[in-house]
Amino acid sequence: MSAGVPDVDLGPLNTLALPGRAARYLRVTAAGQLAGADGGSRRFVLGGGSNLVLTGDFAGLVVHIAIPGRRLLREDADAWYVEAGAGENWHDFVQWTLAQGWPGLENLSLIPGTVGAAPVQNIGAYGLELAERFHSLTAWDFEKQAFFTVDRDGCRFAYRDSLFKQEGWHRDGRVAITAVVFRLPKAWRPVCGYADVAGELGAQGIASPTPPTPRAIADAVIAVRRRKLPDPAVIPNAGSFFHNPVVERGAADALRARHPQLPCYPQPDGRVKLAAGWLIEQAGWKGKDLGPVGMYERQALVLVNRGGATVADVRRTMAAVQAAVREKFGVALTVEPILL
Ligand code: EPU
Repeated sequence: MSAGVPDVDLGPLNTLALPGRAARYLRVTAAGQLAGADGGSRRFVLGGGSNLVLTGDFAGLVVHIAIPGRRLLREDADAWYVEAGAGENWHDFVQWTLAQGWPGLENLSLIPGTVGAAPVQNIGAYGLELAERFHSLTAWDFEKQAFFTVDRDGCRFAYRDSLFKQEGWHRDGRVAITAVVFRLPKAWRPVCGYADVAGELGAQGIASPTPPTPRAIADAVIAVRRRKLPDPAVIPNAGSFFHNPVVERGAADALRARHPQLPCYPQPDGRVKLAAGWLIEQAGWKGKDLGPVGMYERQALVLVNRGGATVADVRRTMAAVQAAVREKFGVALTVEPILL
């Protein structure tokens, strides 16, 4: 059985605004519809399209997850357990939890995309990763034609990584996440160690010893993001285009000896995460364009489509940036969004 409608334009469905069409397209607004979405050949599960590089037309079925819903599942003495449908807009969901008086996700305000895509790459920002507030999720396995649930350990979360990426399920469309449950501890503690957020709170006159409210942190994060990151509705982009590279301690020490300003973040495993944005800026690519694709002038880690770009333009700028950073620092940058 072939599901969905034929020949759909994917341009409006990817925030980098690259051209491409889906041979078939199915918008799913209830988990029960997934059983009919076999598609026959290739399949891709689409959320907000904000972490995606379209490499052209897609010959298979695009399953667009638009499942709504948000509710308090239960609460105990220690936490609220809040469930959201995978198609919910991430930012709107975060703001809703705050309005209900269930804090914990405020640092992740204004991240584009959907609730269902958030666990795939373990979204993170300003000192918090989704994994720290995640409880479990429900997903549909297209091969087994069955739902399954995965808890936090089962998701094997790491920096911008999860079970779904490790198993390649996000690439081959094997699995569609349908709902996510968050565990929001009642013993709330502000996470505002990140310099940009602390600076913003200070500028707003909200400084220690008075602890900021969850709402104040959300507002500070929103202000920082608006200042540094381009709004995809105005300047098409897919967020950070490269991972922050994680290198061995010795390699980081050697680089730091030559470049004392290099931002370094020691990791629990002894390795060191480097700031790709800094490397790109120092390699001369901040605010620099090659044709219609460049690196954003206020955050060099964000690749932007200045208008009318094709995937060839993206690949050219991407390769030039990788080559410049490799040449100057000997560091390899890997692409962060999914190439479809
Ligand atoms: N930096 C520069 N020049 C730049 C950009 C950054 O020197 O053009 C320096 C900054 O001054 C800072 C360091 O690099 O010392 C880190 O920069 P920033 O705090 O802006 O964060 P990032 O490491 O570039 C990561 C995430 C972002 C997330 C921010 C805030 C990745 C790949 N990116 O960026 O996530 O919003 O931290 O926590 O980990 C995304 O994944 O799409 C994304 C936007």
